[in-house]
Order: sequence, then structure tokens, then C-alpha cells
Amino acid sequence: MTAEADGGRIATVRLGNDGPLVGVQGLGCMGISEFYGATDEAGARKTLEAALELGVTLFDTADIYGIGRNEEFLAPFVAAHRDEITLASKFGIVRDPDNPDSRGVNNDPAYIRRSVEASLRRLGTEVIDLYYMHRHDPAVPFAESVGAMAELVAEGKVRHLGLSEVTGAELRAAHAVHPIAAVQSEWSLFSRDAERSLVGAAAELGVAVVAYSPLGRGFLTGSFQDAGSDLSAGDFRRLQPRFSGDNAKANGRLLDPVRKAAKAHDATLGQIALAWVHQRAAVHDMAVVPIPGTRRASRVRENTAASRITLDELELKWLEPIAGQVAGDRYPDMSATSAARE
Ligand SMILES: NC(=O)c1ccc[n+]([C@@H]2O[C@H](COP(=O)([O-])OP(=O)(O)OC[C@H]3O[C@@H](n4cnc5c(N)ncnc54)[C@H](OP(=O)(O)O)[C@@H]3O)[C@@H](O)[C@H]2O)c1
Repeated sequence: MTAEADGGRIATVRLGNDGPLVGVQGLGCMGISEFYGATDEAGARKTLEAALELGVTLFDTADIYGIGRNEEFLAPFVAAHRDEITLASKFGIVRDPDNPDSRGVNNDPAYIRRSVEASLRRLGTEVIDLYYMHRHDPAVPFAESVGAMAELVAEGKVRHLGLSEVTGAELRAAHAVHPIAAVQSEWSLFSRDAERSLVGAAAELGVAVVAYSPLGRGFLTGSFQDAGSDLSAGDFRRLQPRFSGDNAKANGRLLDPVRKAAKAHDATLGQIALAWVHQRAAVHDMAVVPIPGTRRASRVRENTAASRITLDELELKWLEPIAGQVAGDRYPDMSATSAARE
């Protein structure tokens, strides 16, 4: 399913039956602008270039990351490399700049139309390659919401469609309105909700899974032990139940088998976490593209190298029970996730 890696560059894989050919690992750009502490922007620009050199072509943003700032940050990179990259953005989560912690969901066709125009303007481009519905509002039928997204394809404003945090049944319903190239879900050694129904449906329909937070937001790398004491005051991970206090302590112990596998491969914990996600492609016979987020060029090299690690049966067996033992939810409020609807 993936084309062989060429020298230092990663292999490629197609998103969906007729979607773009992308590097088998993408780059999550969210943390550059918000959620995970301060960013050195010049360093982050070098990270984008380093990623592209290593064969990373799928760059992931959303209108809400930094409330528009992440898309604006990407604009010069997009302008310099428009034809070399697959640019992905999202609409559907509504934030209030005066109350940044608040969240709403909007799938109304008129809102979708306004959102795409705003994203195109901030990104400084005439077309978004992959446009995702960030969260699904069950009150708006897919015929209306995906119908409006399909009109954007017909008008040349977006090239391919995606959904995020949907169930298998929701994917099937949306795909019947217009082909979906990729679904984006949290998928990692710590988060396997997507396997309940989404992964099977995606494999059957030929839809790629883009795995977000594949490093468990950094926890799986061992870079922090307790968000409450180790991370800065505004860091979003302090609000996520699994990363603080007793939960974090218990979840830290779950990293032992990851350490064991890392030792066997002379690899880092993060590389084992990513290799496990990459290997889901063979397990489920489908396209799987993790999009680890990093602001540092050196980490892109480390992360992309993980796409060349193959875990053996015994190592996979060590890692298998981890997700089932994680203490604490993924989000402080799970109501807008696929898990809440199945
Ligand atoms: N669809 C959705 O609802 C949704 C939700 C969340 C995220 N996303 C997307 O998915 C992308 C990735 O997810 P994420 O950023 O939340 O989580 P992640 O990729 O699991 O982890 C990112 C964290 O890990 C650190 N990190 C990265 N590589 C590392 C390495 N090799 N060693 C040690 N630490 C490392 C990063 O810090 P440094 O930056 O300091 O390296 C950052 O703090 C986001 O950027 C975003 O585009 C989508």
C-alpha cells in the first residue's frame, strides 16, 4: 500500500481512492500556535522546511488553532511550496476570542461557506487540498453539511473532503453524499476509540485514517510525567484528565513495555509509539498517516525515522493491553467526540 522510502525520505501513500499522494507521516501544526506552551517561531519555520525535505507533505492545521493564527503562520510556507504540499485545514469548532476555553460546533452550510473563505484568506491560497469537518453536529444531516462541502469541491475552493471524530456509521452516511478521502481521529497506544467502528468502516470504504495526537500529546515520549507540575500554566494538557495527578501516575507505569520495545530497537519511546501507529496500516490493510506535532526540526527527523521501524509479534503483544488500562478521558468534555455517540 505504501511506496518504498527513497533514501532519507519517507514512503508515500494515497489518501482515499482518488485522494492525494502524501508522505506516510504528516506534520501536525497546531502546537506551533497554541495549546502546548510558547513557540520559537523562527525554529518552527525551520521545522516546516525540515519536514518537507524528509518527505513529509501533509501539513495539518485548522481555523481554530490560535484562532486563525496557525493558518496565518503557515501562509508563507504555503506560498513557497504550494505544489509540493498537501494542505489540510478544518472548520466546525466555534470559539469565542473573548472566552478562548469555550467550544461550540457548527455544521450549517452558510457557516461552512464563511469558514472556507476565511481560511483561504488566512492561508493565502485559492484552494485547500483537504478540508475537514472538525466536529460533527448530529442535528445537521450530512446531506446538508457534506452537501455544502461538496459544493466547495465543485467550485474549486477545496480538492478533497475529510471528517474528524466521527463514528463508522457517520462516515458511511457522509461518504454516500460525497467521497471522503480521510478521517482524522485520535489514534495511539493510549487512544483506540477509533477502532470501535470507524477504522473498519474506513478500511472497507477505502478512506484513509489520519491519526492525530499519535504521541499521546507528548506523554508517550516520556517528556512530561504530570501536566499539573511539569507544564506551564496555560498548557491545554493540564485540563486533560489523563495527564495529571493519580491518573498520570498510573498512566506513567503503562510506558514500561514501550521502554522495553524502545531498548530492543535502540529507539526512543516516541519512535515506538509512532511505529505502532504506522503498523496499523498493515494490521487493518488500509492507509494510515500519523501526524505527530512538533515545533523542533530535530524531532521531525526522529519521528519520520519511526516509519521505518517494524515491531515484531512479541513487541506488539507487549503493547496491546496499554490503551485498555489508561486512566482518565482524552478530553475534559467528551460530548463532541465520536466515543460519546457510540
Ligand atoms: N482533529 C482533531 O480534533 C485534532 C485534535 C488534536 C490534534 N490534532 C492534530 O494532530 C496534530 C498532532 O497532535 P498533537 O500535537 O495534539 O499531539 P502529539 O503529536 O501526540 O504530541 C505533540 C507533543 O509531543 C511533543 N513531541 C513531538 N515529537 C516529539 C519527540 N520526538 N520527542 C519528544 N516530544 C515530542 C511535542 O512537543 P514539541 O513541539 O516541543 O516537539 C508536543 O508537545 C496536531 O498538531 C493537530 O494538527 C487534531
